Amino acid sequence: MKSLIALLSFIGFSICVFGAVDAAKGQVLFKACIQCHGENGRGNPIEEAPSIAGQYDWYIVSSINQFKKGVERKNPKMLPFIKNLSDSDINDLAAYISQMK
Ligand code: HEC
Repeated sequence: MKSLIALLSFIGFSICVFGAVDAAKGQVLFKACIQCHGENGRGNPIEEAPSIAGQYDWYIVSSINQFKKGVERKNPKMLPFIKNLSDSDINDLAAYISQMK
């Protein structure tokens, strides 16, 4: 019984640690976005890329997924940079970007 409790708490702990959104990983992934959205996420007029710093995380996730699908929103310039992101990558990116000032 004791070991079962230990096992269950270990599984719960693992889910917390490995399933959690990771803004630090988002910061690393954000390097690919800097050329257009700027180091501080404030956008880049030359690329006509909007400021995204401090945007709500749900909005960032839904926008990226829309660009990925290419139905509701299309952007051929940004697509190569987002098309291979997993759902968890997108969540991590959104956590980082939404924290930017
Ligand atoms: C080649 C330039 C380029 C790169 C690289 C790029 N973007 Fe973009 N992004 C754009 C442009 C241009 C738009 C506006 C597109 C539109 O609305 O049609 C945009 C729009 C967005 C939006 C929606 C903003 C809004 O207010 O609706 C989000 C979120 C976003 N980008 C996130 C990212 C992330 C995250 C990355 C890196 C993984 C990234 N972008 C890389 C050019 C780029």
